[in-house]
Amino acid sequence: MKITKICCIGAGYVGGPTMAVIAQKCPDIQVTVVDLNEKRIADWNDPNPENIPIYEPGLSEIVAEARGRNLFFSTDVDKAIDEAEMIFISVNTPTKTYGKGKGMAADLKYIELCARQIARVAKQNKIVVEKSTLPVRTAEAIKSILDNTGNGVQFQILSNPEFLAEGTAVADLLSPDRILIGGDITEEGQEAINALVNVYANWVDKERILTTNVWSSELSKLTANAFLAQRISSINAMSELCEKTGADVNEVARAIGMDSRIGPKFLKASVGFGGSCFQKDILNLVYIAKSYGLNEVADYWEQVIIMNDHQKRRFSNKIVQTLYNTVADKKIAFLGWAFKKDTNDTRESAAIYVADDLINEQAKISVYDPKVSRAKMQADLNYLETRSKEENNDFLYTFNNAYEACKGAHAVAVLTEWDEFRTYDWQKIYDSMHKPAFIFDGRNILDSKHLESIGFVYNGIGS
Ligand code: UDX
Ligand code: ADP
Repeated sequence: MKITKICCIGAGYVGGPTMAVIAQKCPDIQVTVVDLNEKRIADWNDPNPENIPIYEPGLSEIVAEARGRNLFFSTDVDKAIDEAEMIFISVNTPTKTYGKGKGMAADLKYIELCARQIARVAKQNKIVVEKSTLPVRTAEAIKSILDNTGNGVQFQILSNPEFLAEGTAVADLLSPDRILIGGDITEEGQEAINALVNVYANWVDKERILTTNVWSSELSKLTANAFLAQRISSINAMSELCEKTGADVNEVARAIGMDSRIGPKFLKASVGFGGSCFQKDILNLVYIAKSYGLNEVADYWEQVIIMNDHQKRRFSNKIVQTLYNTVADKKIAFLGWAFKKDTNDTRESAAIYVADDLINEQAKISVYDPKVSRAKMQADLNYLETRSKEENNDFLYTFNNAYEACKGAHAVAVLTEWDEFRTYDWQKIYDSMHKPAFIFDGRNILDSKHLESIGFVYNGIGS
């Protein structure tokens, strides 16, 4: 089966970049990305590709190349579903905030709505591809909704989890470590798998395209994220021990990373991991394990989250303690608000939680992030519902450049590892701050020796 038209439901951090790259690499396939959010679609269609709603290095160039040729963004969901032979579901699956599984299970209401919409609109056979991270056996639920329409249309459900990391999404999509496609073992299932393999084979070596059954594919995504997050919590746990014993976590990471069995990646101690995936996927794994009565398995993975929460809180506590046990009315400058560099995404960013803790202590938070708007920062704080919107507004100060944000501050805290922070004129920042001038480097990116020679009191993670 040759695919000529693809529809992707959900124009977010996954759907947008993934479809842009598919469109660029497969000029014969018409790719339409749809979303209910009119503003988001309007932003994707902004004549200036620099204004697309998602910041990812290299993405605006790809959108500029493919948009209007074979890449389209639209709010007409029904039309795109009707026309496409293959439909990707790439909607958000946040952790449930209500009812059974609250705070743990993935909320599948958006997925179910998509499945029902596809069931209602489809008049010809379709391949439906799960792209969002989903609990194991979601494909089955989607299939059950689709198969009960009674209109004779045949659906094949594939699981094709996304492994891209934000900030490097384009590079990850262009040369993925692997593509994973799960499908039915039936003849029709294999045909559907092949159709999707052939889409990716336009630019990915076939040896890198793995095919499995649906459940292995679904569980592999959760497992990959759990393992990655576990490495960060493991090194963060060691960072606290390093601080007590006089060891340096960077040296420890380097030493263990040279063991080829361990490897050097994902061993950077930090203020804690953020992002839309790690916490959500682990909570989801914990929930699934518990629902099968596997309490030891659930507890094992939950510890990764507990450690991460501890690391964030430890960072804010350290700021308060170091500043003579009070930050009330003191200006604390935050460099960075995004959950990692090279993205404007702030979901679950450590900065939000550290700011919330410090505002509880009545600190004035003054933030500079190269890509995050004040509105987003306010929304992030309001989402926690710790205090009123007005109070959050009063404690949050935002600036368009770092020098202004740091002027008159008692301390600077690095929350995101943006490259530009390394190259600042730190003498100038020092001169504009209250003394003693403290730095809390939550990403271990600054040159501590240089900062100390200027006069800063430097605090890194794990040293
Ligand atoms: C992650 C997975 O890497 C990706 O494969 C999956 O598809 C989605 O989830 P993402 O959350 O976008 O990607 O970014 P990632 O690079 O994994 O970083 C997650 C968080 O961990 C960030 O807050 C980052 O700063 C932090 N991190 C990462 C560390 O603190 N230390 C490290 O060594 C690596
Ligand atoms: P992700 O990081 O998984 O891509 P995002 O929140 O960035 O998550 O994007 C998901 C997108 O899916 C949002 O823009 C949201 O408006 C869209 N969406 C959710 N449900 C539907 C639906 N039923 N139809 C169309 N779009 C939807």
